[in-house]
Amino acid sequence: MSDKPDHALIAQVGEKSLAEAADLLSRGKLVGVPTETVYGLAADATNGEAVAGIFEAKGRPSFNPLICHVTDYEMANRLGEFNDIAKRLAEAFWPGPLTLVLNKRADCPVHELATAGLATLAVRMPTGPMGELSARLKKPIAAPSANLSGQISATSALAVLEDLGEKVSLILDHGAPSVGVESTIVGFRGDDTVLLRPGGLSPEDIEKVTDRPLLNNIDDKVINAPGMLTSHYAPDMPVRLNVDRVLPGEALLAFGDVALNGAETAVKSINLSPTGNLIEAAQKLFAAMRNLNASGANGLAVVPIPNVGLGIAINDRLSRAAAPKDAGHG
Ligand code: TXA
Ligand code: MG
Repeated sequence: MSDKPDHALIAQVGEKSLAEAADLLSRGKLVGVPTETVYGLAADATNGEAVAGIFEAKGRPSFNPLICHVTDYEMANRLGEFNDIAKRLAEAFWPGPLTLVLNKRADCPVHELATAGLATLAVRMPTGPMGELSARLKKPIAAPSANLSGQISATSALAVLEDLGEKVSLILDHGAPSVGVESTIVGFRGDDTVLLRPGGLSPEDIEKVTDRPLLNNIDDKVINAPGMLTSHYAPDMPVRLNVDRVLPGEALLAFGDVALNGAETAVKSINLSPTGNLIEAAQKLFAAMRNLNASGANGLAVVPIPNVGLGIAINDRLSRAAAPKDAGHG
């Protein structure tokens, strides 16, 4: 893959491409926009037709709500109600890989389709051009990850093109995201904070700011989180986790310095971080999964990855990639 893909739909981030992207968004079109986590499929969040276009392009079930991206705290505060803890989290981590699920304000301008009719709204302030586009538009931007629903997220402009092609009017290219896995989603129940999706910001970092344990919705279902269906991020082939050997015909997703039975027979193998660095592994995860998915292997073998820090988000994505597909996807 070249660093600067040559395709009419792809433009490097710059003044000209930002102006064009803002103009397209203002006319209800879809634009692929990079963030520090993954590439997003962006539309004006207040335009129902544009938002419907997102669901259509991704093949996403319309009961699965979208994250609204904002340019600053003031814009976020016009959409949803911040309690003290939410405010503290926004101050500490925005812009960054954190999404907050807030009670929607009565006069929130976001179209109902984007929030799937819920009384809550997911909002985040990312780094990169998304905030700049929201500022130019003076509106929140609805954007799910820019992949086909249920499949592997996109961490390059080419991956967006591969999945969505002509369904987008433009794809802004800003190279590989620095984080590489989606934002951490936090919800609230009274004074409790609840982890709705592990992501680029670790639970430990969140607890340092909130001074209270982050409850885990995945085990305890404290809050209604419609999008956390089991099968997601899924390659076309079966995925085996925590392997200690590679079976004939499999591709290998490795991590750290491990010697594995049968590794030399793998159809293709990628090591997410030979030195065992979880930050590097998160950055490379989705590109590696797309690459191995295209290798012609009959299955994907994944070595164990430590379940700490960013490893929690990595293991979340991998276990969904391994889940049976009839469990539904989002
Ligand atoms: O890093 C990210 O968060 C990326 C970039 C593009 O910002 N976006 C992303 O969006 O991952 P998406 O649509 O792939 O995942 C958003 C998740 C879904 O699981 C959805 O169900 C959940 O957020 N969500 C949205 N609104 C919600 C709400 N009001 N309550 C609970 N969950 C919500
Ligand atoms: Mg997604």
